[in-house]
Amino acid sequence: MSGKIHQTMGQQSGRRSWAEPWKIKMVEPLRMTQHEDRQKALADAGYNTFLLRSDDVYIDLLTDSGTSAMSDRQWAGMMLGDEAYAGSRNFYRLEEAIQKYYGYRYLVPTHQGRGAEHLISQAAIRKGQFVPGNMYFTTTRLHQELAGGIFVDVIVDEAHDPADLSPFKGNVDLAKLEQLIRDQGAANIAYVSLATTVNMAGGQPVSMANVKALRELCDRHGIKLFLDATRLVENAWFIQEREPGYAGRSIAEIALEFCSYSDGAWSSAKKDSLVNIGGWLAVNDWTLFEELRNLVVVYEGLHTYGGLAGRDMEAMAIGIVESMQDEHVRSRIGQVRYLAELLDDWRIPMVRPVGGHAIFLDARAFYPHLSQDEFPAQTLAAELYLDSGIRSMERGVVSAGRDPKTGGHHYPKLELTRLTIPRRVYTQAHMDVVAESVKAVYEARTSARGLKMVYEPRYLRFFQARFEPLA
Ligand code: F0G
Repeated sequence: MSGKIHQTMGQQSGRRSWAEPWKIKMVEPLRMTQHEDRQKALADAGYNTFLLRSDDVYIDLLTDSGTSAMSDRQWAGMMLGDEAYAGSRNFYRLEEAIQKYYGYRYLVPTHQGRGAEHLISQAAIRKGQFVPGNMYFTTTRLHQELAGGIFVDVIVDEAHDPADLSPFKGNVDLAKLEQLIRDQGAANIAYVSLATTVNMAGGQPVSMANVKALRELCDRHGIKLFLDATRLVENAWFIQEREPGYAGRSIAEIALEFCSYSDGAWSSAKKDSLVNIGGWLAVNDWTLFEELRNLVVVYEGLHTYGGLAGRDMEAMAIGIVESMQDEHVRSRIGQVRYLAELLDDWRIPMVRPVGGHAIFLDARAFYPHLSQDEFPAQTLAAELYLDSGIRSMERGVVSAGRDPKTGGHHYPKLELTRLTIPRRVYTQAHMDVVAESVKAVYEARTSARGLKMVYEPRYLRFFQARFEPLA
């Protein structure tokens, strides 16, 4: 993956390409499909890319979650799994990695991110309390609501504007947060929920200055600050690139400093940490840890495995170390940018600045003739699949779900289709194919007709909802 990005990736002069800090040892064949096959597969899947069989997909950009390639070291680590029910040696290796790279004292492993979200929400939210956060994430908000919490979006306004070029569109608007504290009282705030980077905003980062200021504000009011550290590594990269004073600091140093301003964190290790399954929750407070350790045995498994096999914890411990290497993050984000620059050449509308894990196409700008009730982002994901077998996902009105009070749709400002790049999986040639398919769909944009929802599940509807094309 070389190309024009050598300029934006920090090289000074002349053409000096960069490449991945790994080579390929094992390959997995892909199946190419014909247009008629895809038409049938898409109709069978109710025009929802989550319901496609992966065998019918050519390049899978549904998610970067659990889809990364593990290294030879991680696979070797899988053979060192200590599958004892209690006190597995792999748990202690994982604990060491969390303490070293994230800096928290006490670790609770979970089967994946939402397992951790469930536990922290149950332990730290009292019914009726508010949970301010920098934009919602689907599973995060749902667990907060199921625990009786009321989510309040306190992200900066720029985050809702796909064209705004601010460098840290994931920041919390401190004035919005202070207003909430004034209106509701600090005792009615469960904690501040800070995502690093903000998935639904397009993978936008939070600055170190913002988390520092947030810490001070929380301290003044006696409020706890917890991180969703799922993509902290990518956030650290943006701080290194954009924030004065951090250019010479390593990703690992930046990540550790970032965590030092918080009281704890949860993470889906299926992203940054390069594993196919796993998550964790880590805190500094012993009393809270005791409560979490109590809950984990009810919902996940014993506190030294939390729903994971010993081998999974070993792969995670190794993945954490690999994920914090500067060269790794540089090539990971470099590949996302390579795709972005191809799309830019053709003026494809997308969220800017481009985030760490994905390109978010602006479906409103693709299909100005469709209202949000006609699901433009869902339509765009369907059209992309039909064109080339590339699988993307909706991040718009379907993902936003319904307001639990009114029952009506949430209508998010951002109506996006996400091309999510798995780590260490696809090549530059795959990115070229993706870009050309997006271009073809963009050129055919005026003929898109939109969708209607014909089946809607109760929770996280985007996963299982079914649609039909509008006539
Ligand atoms: N937090 C963030 C920011 C996430 O992106 C996700 C998952 C989770 C928590 C939940 O973790 O899936 O391990 O239970 N995001 C995936 C995605 C599903 O495609 O963006 P999980």
